[in-house]
Amino acid sequence: MRALVTGASRGIGRETAKLLAGGGAELALHHFRHREAAEQLAAELTSKGKPAFALSADLASPPSIDRMAEALAERWDRLDVLVQNAGSYPRGSIFELTDAQVDATLATNLLGPIRLVRRLLPLLKDARAGRIILVSSVLAYTGSVHGAPYATAKAGLLGFARSLARELAPRITVNVVAPGATDTAILAGDTPELRKRREAQIPLGRVATPTEVAEAIAFLASPRAGYITGTTLHVNGGIYFG
Ligand SMILES: NC(=O)c1ccc[n+]([C@@H]2O[C@H](COP(=O)([O-])OP(=O)(O)OC[C@H]3O[C@@H](n4cnc5c(N)ncnc54)[C@H](OP(=O)(O)O)[C@@H]3O)[C@@H](O)[C@H]2O)c1
Repeated sequence: MRALVTGASRGIGRETAKLLAGGGAELALHHFRHREAAEQLAAELTSKGKPAFALSADLASPPSIDRMAEALAERWDRLDVLVQNAGSYPRGSIFELTDAQVDATLATNLLGPIRLVRRLLPLLKDARAGRIILVSSVLAYTGSVHGAPYATAKAGLLGFARSLARELAPRITVNVVAPGATDTAILAGDTPELRKRREAQIPLGRVATPTEVAEAIAFLASPRAGYITGTTLHVNGGIYFG
């Protein structure tokens, strides 16, 4: 099985890549700014007999996405699993964000992922049991007072996934994982007080570990999820039931 995980340099993507490699997948590890982290993971996996290599792209840049798709096609003639996990969550009130910031958030979290999937469809069409998993967010459902463009982009992914699930059936399943607050760099700005307040709102009483979200992604990528398509798996400690 050949899998591309975007945003594999850190956080949820990194844990997902490790789980997929553990399940026997060959890995393409996408990164943006943290090249060294992705290359180090690729070397670590390869040394354990799980072939992996790093690839770079800025999801906000269409030419950069095209270059990455071309680079992947030079190495592989087939892709079985695409995990579109990369994203960024710039905070800001809708009254304060500039137009450029709004556009950049939509480019990184919605238009870039759509472009990436479209560019990779020729590789996915020969997949043995194709899987596309898009990482959205609980904020797609609840909205966000700190990031309307981010929540909008993540909600857009839901419509994209449902449409693709219909159009790519029966060869490729398409699903969404919608994490709630997860302990990665995205929450690095939390003060201890904010973290406490955040956790008090979550029925399970804590934020997720990146591995807990990665487990949901790995399940949807596996043969065990072969009859699941067009759905969203919520991994949020019960803060939203879907
Ligand atoms: N953590 C949470 O609370 C939470 C909650 C809901 C949803 N999510 C979603 O989960 C996914 C993974 O996030 P995470 O929590 O693991 O965050 P993270 O640790 O900050 O990792 C984000 C990943 O996305 C990549 N990335 C960021 N901007 C990019 C760009 N412009 N182009 C290409 N790649 C870019 C980063 O690459 P480099 O490091 O190489 O720059 C990194 O690998 C994201 O889609 C995020 O929106 C996270």
